[in-house]
Amino acid sequence: MSNTKILVTGGTGYIGSHTVVELQQAGYDVVIIDNLSNSNIGVLDGIQRISGIRPEFLQGDINDIRTLRDLFSTHGPIKGIINFAASKAVGESVQKPILYYRNNLVGLLNLLEVMPEYDVKGIVFSSSCTVYGEPDKNPIDESAPIKPATSPYGNTKQISEEIISDVIHAGSPIKSILLRYFNPVGAHPSAEIGELPIGVPQNLIPYLTQTAAGIRPLLTIFGNDYDTPDGTCIRDFIDVVDLARAHVIAMRRMLDRNDTAPLEIFNLGTGRGLSVMQLIQSFERATGVKVPYTIGPRRKGDIEKIWADPTKANEVLGWKADTDIDQTMRNAWKWQLKVTPAK
Ligand code: NAD
Ligand code: UFG
Repeated sequence: MSNTKILVTGGTGYIGSHTVVELQQAGYDVVIIDNLSNSNIGVLDGIQRISGIRPEFLQGDINDIRTLRDLFSTHGPIKGIINFAASKAVGESVQKPILYYRNNLVGLLNLLEVMPEYDVKGIVFSSSCTVYGEPDKNPIDESAPIKPATSPYGNTKQISEEIISDVIHAGSPIKSILLRYFNPVGAHPSAEIGELPIGVPQNLIPYLTQTAAGIRPLLTIFGNDYDTPDGTCIRDFIDVVDLARAHVIAMRRMLDRNDTAPLEIFNLGTGRGLSVMQLIQSFERATGVKVPYTIGPRRKGDIEKIWADPTKANEVLGWKADTDIDQTMRNAWKWQLKVTPAK
């Protein structure tokens, strides 16, 4: 009997690649579609070195519905989809809203349209804690209000959630699980795959590890005058492999059970808020490497503090993010050393 096959869009990307490995290790067959706009083909080698299996790969764009129909006809039967493919740079989305609305919404619409045609049962969607805006209280659970988005990127996540909800309420014979990620960090402990930012990193951890590696002279902490114990912002940093594991559980739940609601939403975080300063300290403690930093002005649009109440995911999915943060920092560093060009 052949294994159940899952389509992973954006599967050569950061979170996608880690999820492909976990799916393979759980016994699923995987087909990836990625247009390589923010990743490279070499990621497939890394995946294969970890799992021993090379996933099927199609270089293509999910915004092209013909490509998708072709994929479902020739690579099927596909039972489930995990939709990572999207553009994700918050700042860029402010400059290029049309690109963001098109890339993040058209592909999703195409997938939702095509799924019933090919008897695809469910779709896991990559959402974000950004839908909560600045929380009124922390930790934040799934019942918290959705706040007006502060960027086109954030808006695409809110609209995507609404599109999926509307399609299911209109009677489409599909299920969906919306996963609201907090801040994914780290890399696979094998250092075969990890985050590969193109250009100057916008996010904290790749900037930090590149600074520690001497690629950048100084990490700037964006503000130390926030209303937090050490004045720096607080986030819920979640290990990318813990995050990836949750997708396998969500997929199994959608495909194997007929007693679950057609649409479910889960926060994926640790439940622990760490400040930017605490994260730097964790990195230095875990690796023994000093990170030169300076304090700069606040970054426009930053949320002061947000961390998850992951109780629902813990209890309903039976999933917990339990990788120690120092271990996550060691993995991030091991990956950085692997990809740092020799001087
Ligand atoms: P990533 O950029 O590393 O991966 C996305 C992948 O999708 C890339 O490989 C890119 O080439 C591909 N892609 C983009 N548009 C495509 C298209 N139209 N057709 C085919 N492939 C396309 O990003 P990531 O960090 O792995 O994020 C994955 C998902 O999770 C995204 O939807 C992102 O918005 C969401 N998310 C990420 C974070 C985070 O901090 N990394 C937080 C919350 C949510
Ligand atoms: N930070 C710095 N210096 C840097 C980079 C970041 O001090 O060079 C600070 C930021 O000001 C913020 C914290 O580190 O306080 C985290 O910043 P990131 O850019 O790493 O992450 P964000 O929480 O701003 O946003 C990220 C993604 C969003 C996603 C969100 C929640 O960029 O797309 O996590 O998942 F929605």
